[in-house]
Amino acid sequence: MAINSEQFLKVENLTVNYGAIRALRGISFEAAQGEIITLIGANGAGKSTTLHAISNIIRKTLGNVIFDGKNITSTPPDRIVKTGLVQVPEGRRIFANLSVKDNLEMGAYTRRDPIREDMEKVFSIFPRLKERIRQVAGTLSGGEQQMLAMGRALMARPRLLLLDEPSMGLAPILVDEIFSVIKNINETGTTVLLVEQNAYKALNLASRAYILETGVIVKSGRAADLLKDEAVKAAYLGG
Ligand SMILES: Nc1ncnc2c1ncn2[C@@H]1O[C@H](COP(=O)(O)OP(=O)(O)O)[C@@H](O)[C@H]1O
Ligand SMILES: [Mg+2]
Repeated sequence: MAINSEQFLKVENLTVNYGAIRALRGISFEAAQGEIITLIGANGAGKSTTLHAISNIIRKTLGNVIFDGKNITSTPPDRIVKTGLVQVPEGRRIFANLSVKDNLEMGAYTRRDPIREDMEKVFSIFPRLKERIRQVAGTLSGGEQQMLAMGRALMARPRLLLLDEPSMGLAPILVDEIFSVIKNINETGTTVLLVEQNAYKALNLASRAYILETGVIVKSGRAADLLKDEAVKAAYLGG
């Protein structure tokens, strides 16, 4: 979709300490409306911490988060979801004992209006979930669980979707499928902040990228440029 030049998400000087561990050391980045941006980094770099701090699931030591012109630095997580900022957690975190349908309904818990249309929309994106509507979520395959986690997030009608390593543990063909769905979701108007260890895939999907190393953004720029960057190639793209 068209990219609005105004800053839709603005993260300023985000700092998170877990006791003595300095997980994020004052990182700043931004996304325009309609963009896909990606935050790339190795295991332990601070990617999940960044998403959790934006969603306010964990406490920030310092820093500000502005979403769509509103300061949401201290907004409670459920209110953040209501404003249209929705996170898909790492490792899916679906409700394993509930059905696919119940999981999707949980995604709309912050709303009171009818959700049937939203569910039909999710099923048009993920037809496989419709076939498995009564199945207990814990018995879905890894790829199907990722689809369910994303479907559940879509039920909250996100304007900004935070995705935490959606490709983790999936077979290559499913990774392609998930990435093509992310592209489609973006094209229907949702801004995306994608966190990935799969740098090659993420850089091919995103317009801009930030590289996170032990809590510091060490490099940023257009994704196409970073794909050609020798240091990025050596460290993240297998040389
Ligand atoms: N709840 C926690 N308590 C203490 N340290 C944590 C906690 N969560 C994450 N960390 C540490 O913070 C750093 C960043 O972790 P994380 O954000 O999960 O990285 P990533 O998602 O990039 O793999 C790591 O050193 C990790 O061990
Ligand atoms: Mg993580």
